[in-house]
Amino acid sequence: MDIIKRPRRLRTGEWIRRLVRETRLSVDELIYPIFIVEGEGIKREIPSMPGVYYFSSDCLMRELEEVQSLGIPGVLLFGVTDKKDDVGSGAYDDNGVVQTALKQCKRNFPQMIFMADICLCEYTSHGHCGVVRDGHVLNDPSVELIVKAALSCADAGADVVAPSDMMDGRVGEIRKALDRNGLTDKAIMAYSAKYSSAFYGPFRDAAGSKPAFGDRRGYQMDFCNRKEALREVRLDIDEGADIIMVKPALAYLDIIRDVSERFDVPVAAYNVSGEYSMIKAAAQKGWIDERAAVTESVTAIRRAGAGIIITYFAKQLAQWI
Ligand code: PBG
Ligand code: ZN
Repeated sequence: MDIIKRPRRLRTGEWIRRLVRETRLSVDELIYPIFIVEGEGIKREIPSMPGVYYFSSDCLMRELEEVQSLGIPGVLLFGVTDKKDDVGSGAYDDNGVVQTALKQCKRNFPQMIFMADICLCEYTSHGHCGVVRDGHVLNDPSVELIVKAALSCADAGADVVAPSDMMDGRVGEIRKALDRNGLTDKAIMAYSAKYSSAFYGPFRDAAGSKPAFGDRRGYQMDFCNRKEALREVRLDIDEGADIIMVKPALAYLDIIRDVSERFDVPVAAYNVSGEYSMIKAAAQKGWIDERAAVTESVTAIRRAGAGIIITYFAKQLAQWI
């Protein structure tokens, strides 16, 4: 046979495969999401997310030791509480669950990057990400409260505030408010292209943030749309976002690619709870090789163009890389 081109030559052994590998994972680009609860001495596994825990702030410190020793540069904090009201006051309470933890975090781990998810849904009785009137989520009144939450978390020590609400104009309003308060060094990571997705299911179970009526399609994006993601990202960059995010990750690799090619800011991708729990569940049943499936899917997110990967697998990956 006169076959001239033989691509298999570069696959003949592990050493040559290593040499020609195009995508590598590094612990430097991982962010580990963490759920914080009120109380003391709590480290309780989340039923819908095996291997992920609720932490009270005292136990959180021990967890952060581990995160730090694994070399993971930062964490993304979520507050979980049963103190809820119709305007989500817990989100902008200076003594709220995240704010209290942040003060302690920053004192004990001054180098680590603390990102605070900024939204109302974990704190509203109706579970929506904003203020509800007549069954609708109002934009501007919601932005006002989102800004308060961002200020309160930045003030408590968050290095990065990450609005995940998808209200219009919130990035610009947060930037102005931070700057007006002398918090010019605090960065904004905007959940810019955040799709209305079934893959947030395990998270909503964990945070008790499932909407009591309706759904989030009035503010989160329609998964049929691509150009809309580019518009959302452009707006957030123009309003002052330092990092933009695509979420979820695995069903949106095309969006990650488009965004990372077109814009010149760091692109984060959020490998969300449903993407995590699907692999965990299949692995528990012995239907899938967990390590291989995780490495393959997170590498795909990296290959698509994400520079920062937010994933519940961060600790495991840090050990495997
Ligand atoms: C809050 C928020 C959600 C997630 C991150 N921030 C849930 C939602 O929008 O319903 C999802 C994270 C995950 O599924 O891992 N707005
Ligand atoms: Zn929300």
